Amino acid sequence: MGVANFLLVAFVFLALAFSFADAFDPAPLQDICVAINDTKFGVFVNGKFCRDPVLVTADDFSFSGLNIPRNTTNQVGSNVTLLNVDKIPGLNTLGISLARIDFAPYGGLNPPHTHPRATEILVVLEGTLYVGFVTSNPNRLITKVLNAGDVFVFPIGLIHFQFNIGNTNAVAFAALSSQNPGVITIANAIFGSNPPINPDVLVKAFQVDKNVVNYLQKQFWVNNH
Ligand SMILES: *[C@@H]1O[C@H](CO)[C@@H](O)[C@H](O)[C@H]1NC(C)=O
Ligand SMILES: *[C@@H]1O[C@H](CO)[C@@H](O)[C@H](O)[C@H]1NC(C)=O
Ligand SMILES: *[C@@H]1O[C@H](CO)[C@@H](O)[C@H](O)[C@H]1NC(C)=O
Repeated sequence: MGVANFLLVAFVFLALAFSFADAFDPAPLQDICVAINDTKFGVFVNGKFCRDPVLVTADDFSFSGLNIPRNTTNQVGSNVTLLNVDKIPGLNTLGISLARIDFAPYGGLNPPHTHPRATEILVVLEGTLYVGFVTSNPNRLITKVLNAGDVFVFPIGLIHFQFNIGNTNAVAFAALSSQNPGVITIANAIFGSNPPINPDVLVKAFQVDKNVVNYLQKQFWVNNH
């Protein structure tokens, strides 16, 4: 391979490596960086302040009670328990988090939402879920019906949902590729923002009558987290 080609290949690899590092949580520069909010007992900085490693305990890396079913009696019939860096400070700089999702029988829904900073991999433990995501424009819908033991991947940033089509409770666990994946619930963000989006914007965007927009903006948009 000529020098020019070699340089080109090297450049492409470097560019890929940098785009990868930029798109996700920062790479850790030390074994552990247990997050704290107060700098008084902190040392190294890499995203958040880190607890002095000498003061770190097993509790910084653990959480108990994810076996307990959550209450799904709300408008959408689902309940997400997300263990991000605020729940497990030892996740800091590690680019991963975990969620339990409970679904009520007959239509419990984790409504269409996106995680701006994470890809999600989900496994169904109980029940039957109809799940899917939509690709960026042009919008192709990718769906599947999942039963216990089935796994599904929701790529970073894409709108996705999970819907309980069974007559029993459903339970899923999901791992996400960020310590702080973030969540944007589409309906809540569009119709329940504070302050509200100017209705004229939504009338034009959704091609509906103004009273449809007014009606939607008056609803209570539950946060299922
Ligand atoms: C840091 O502050 C946030 C927001 O106030 C809180 O949710 C979180 O539990 C705190 N984390 C730690 C490790 O104290
Ligand atoms: C989720 O379940 C917990 C415990 O079961 C409950 O305290 C919380 O209010 C529920 N959240 C929603 C949004 O229903
Ligand atoms: C679940 O939440 C609903 C609504 O908040 C409440 O009425 C009900 O008592 C809760 N159920 C349990 C088992 O805690």
